[in-house]
Amino acid sequence: MIMASGNGSNFEAIVKASREGILKANVRNLIVDRSCYAEERARRLGIPCIKLGRKWVEELEQVLDELRPSLVVLAGFMRIIPERIVRKWRWKIINIHPSLLPAFPGMHAIEKAYKHGVKVTGITVHFVDEGVDTGPIILQKAIEVDPRWTLDDLEGKIHEIEHAWYPRIIQTILNGRWYVEGRRVVIEEYTG
Ligand code: GAR
Repeated sequence: MIMASGNGSNFEAIVKASREGILKANVRNLIVDRSCYAEERARRLGIPCIKLGRKWVEELEQVLDELRPSLVVLAGFMRIIPERIVRKWRWKIINIHPSLLPAFPGMHAIEKAYKHGVKVTGITVHFVDEGVDTGPIILQKAIEVDPRWTLDDLEGKIHEIEHAWYPRIIQTILNGRWYVEGRRVVIEEYTG
């Protein structure tokens, strides 16, 4: 199950990876919390989309209990998952963030990194815990920022590596050859 609030480019990249056999899993549903372009992509791709309403927390709890997804993949879902859902679904919810955490957590991470003038930035995939972008890190990929890049250039590069790596690390997590030691996620075998 994938959850999104915006453009949905990661959602589409994951669906495509599953259709091309790079990811050996089916995306059964898209969950959105607002009207967004991701819904349009879901229609085009033929993936059933569930839109959460004002009581989104209760609705999400119900959806999770009914569908019991093997993994909940946050892909630009712009809300904090409440503690009781995190506790019940621990190690079952992952998120992608467009910076090298713990640098630039929260919203507008790419812009913040760019304006800060960082020389290296990247992406982080992590398990969701009770904090904001604080969960145990599964994967990080770094890129060097070319000083001639505009913010748009950097955004393009970040999305490129997100689309390439998110499906692969989802496959790795689904394969189950990993464990957690303290805060550290140890991957025994990467796939993809
Ligand atoms: C992605 O860059 C993702 O890393 C970011 O939102 C974007 C969604 O793009 N997530 C966060 O900032 C979470 N804190 P998309 O809707 O095109 O997949």
